[in-house]
Parts: sequence; structure tokens; C-alpha cells
Amino acid sequence: MVVAATGPDTVVTAGDLFGAQADFGLMPPPWAPDCWGEEEQAVLVCRKVLEITHDVKSFHFEADSHRTFSFDPGQFITLQLEIDGAAFTRCYTISSPPTRPHLISITVKRVPGGPVSNWLHDHMVPGARITAQAPLGGFTLANPSAPKYLFLSAGSGITPLMSMTRTMYDLGSDADVLFVHSARTPADIIFRRELEAMAAVMPNIRVVNVCEDDYPSERWMGLRGRLSAPILQALAPDLDERETYTCGPAGYMASIRGILGEVGYDMRGYHEESFSFENLPASDVPPPVDGAAEGDGAATPPGAPITYSVEFVRSGRTVTCAADGTLLDAAYAAGLRPPASCTQGMCGTCKTTMLSGEVDMQHNGGIRPREVAQNKILICCSKPLSNVCIDA
Ligand code: FES
Repeated sequence: MVVAATGPDTVVTAGDLFGAQADFGLMPPPWAPDCWGEEEQAVLVCRKVLEITHDVKSFHFEADSHRTFSFDPGQFITLQLEIDGAAFTRCYTISSPPTRPHLISITVKRVPGGPVSNWLHDHMVPGARITAQAPLGGFTLANPSAPKYLFLSAGSGITPLMSMTRTMYDLGSDADVLFVHSARTPADIIFRRELEAMAAVMPNIRVVNVCEDDYPSERWMGLRGRLSAPILQALAPDLDERETYTCGPAGYMASIRGILGEVGYDMRGYHEESFSFENLPASDVPPPVDGAAEGDGAATPPGAPITYSVEFVRSGRTVTCAADGTLLDAAYAAGLRPPASCTQGMCGTCKTTMLSGEVDMQHNGGIRPREVAQNKILICCSKPLSNVCIDA
């Protein structure tokens, strides 16, 4: 029997997930990032939805053309959705491991007022189809594997670290993993039972949860409060020997960086990732044009901050962009809504062609060298060095 993705309470067989017609005698060809078709997109079919906590669900998808998935643990996929007529693009880290290649899964917390997370929770059911872009991201395990890891996560930031841990578990890795997860209450601990189950049979995996508070039906008996330098040092006296991977809200990661700085950790062994959609507009659809922030090409007065004009050719708009701001920020300020998701140069959603001008682009793997050679840019991480004209 092939065992596929598991929730805390449920072990799901691949047969359950694929249906009776699944043929595990043949391994379908993989869908790697470079073979997702010309647009590097794929249609995924939801096969299973698992309730992980009271406000977190895992969505398991199969490729609609009988392919397996190939990716590195820690990478993300970018979903393209249409909700009530509005377009949304969102990155979600893959929570399943590449060692279970028939399915790919994401684990999503319902965010109050969040259009995409609520839509997924309410409408994504088995059989539903969704468009996704190929897996991307550089937040992956070191190769070759480090002998010791420290995984630090908070809230739904647990997902990439879960993919890594599941991968190590499946491969029988003997790497020493200390997994410290922070949650609000015990009821908010994502993958609690599954991580406990893995740790119970793999002595090299140690899981520690830290909760801020009790849940009405469960008094928390473990570590309480927030992670601190003394707690971390007590948990990991060998901290310096560990490769550290951190994922969670921006405030959590800032606090982790502070703690690691406090204890003198060598940050060359530190890796982090966070997706925050707070700065994104409500949808990719532009509001009515009001003319505000429109660039007029006028010369910058002496002493004023340097700005450049950015022409969005397809939108027929020209906006002003500060030399220290990104083209995406300038677009948003002017009421434009070019597609964007990660806003950190990772996902490629905001990729477009620069028709003229020069930018300083500091990306994080969301664009390939051959695309850069074709004058493609990611506008979320590109600052103008001259007036710019882009095909957007
Ligand atoms: Fe993800 Fe620009 S929004 S690369």
C-alpha cells in the first residue's frame, strides 16, 4: 500500500486520493518547473480536503493530465483564481513532500476578511479545478543535507518546514531536526499529531510546541509564551551547529533574527521565508482611474527626491516612481493593479517586458537568466534608474 499525505487524525492512502482507477504500477512523467507547458501553468484537480485545525485545511491536488509533481521541499506554487469576477494571484507553500509525487498539497489558514483563503475554505472541494504556476522558490534544504537543522515556524509558516520534515521522514534521513513551532493556543497547532507521530518513530526528529495561551477545552502544559533567547538556548545548546530555517509572519521572523543576533548565531546558516499579502490590493482588478499620482514627465525640482516616469503601455497610463521605490509600488499608488503575489521577486507573477529604460532588479529567483536576456523584469523588485516603459 502506498501511503500518501496524512493529516493529524487521518491516514489517507493513495488509492483514496486517486480513486479506484489509480494505477501505481506506472509512474507518470513528472511535472517539473521547466515542463509545465509554455506558460508554465497547469490545471490542478482537487482530490481531497482535510481539516487540520478549526481554521486550517489542507487541499490535495492531482494534475489533470496524469503527471506526477517534481519540486524541492520548501517551494511554493502560485494559484490563479477568479472570485466574484475579480482576478487573484496568490503564492502558497507546498506542504506535501516531493517523495509523494502523485499529489501536491497546500495548507491554508482562514484569514478573517481574506478573499482567497476564505474562498478556498468555502468552495474548494474534491473535483474543483484550479490553475497554478509551476513550483518555485529558493527556501529549500541545503544540498548536501546538513547534519543538524533547527526549524522555526509560527502559524501557517509551518507549511514549508512540514514539507521538509515529511521528506526527511520518507527518505529515512538521519539528520538531527529540532522543530520548534509557535502557536496561539494548543488548538492552533498545525500538524500537531502528525509531527508527534513522526517524532515518535524517528528519534532524530524532536518537536517542541510553544503556545501563548490555553484553549477553552485544553490547558496548555508545554512551553508557554513566546520564543526567547533563553528558551532557544535551553532547547538547542548546540545551536551553532544547526542550519536554521524560519517561516512565519514578518514580526515573528524579526523577533527570531533578534534572538539569533542576541545569542551570537552565525547568520550564514540562516534561511527565512514569509508571504504576506497585506500590502496587496483587494484584487488584481483596477479601481476607476482618478488621475492621482499620474506622472507628467516634468523635471525634478532641485533638492526634491529623484523620480522617474513609468509608462504602462497596455494600461495607457504613465505614473511617477521614486528612484528608491519599486515599479509595483508606483503602480499601486496610481490605482493600477498589475498582477502580483509574493512582492519579493520570487513567484514571477509580476513578470513583464521592459520596452525601454533601465531598472535595478534585485530578485529572489522568480525570473530566469534567459528571461532577463529577453528584457523581462519583475516589477515588484525593480527600481527605476531612468524613465521606463513596460508592456503592462
Ligand atoms: Fe512575485 Fe513579483 S510578485 S515576483
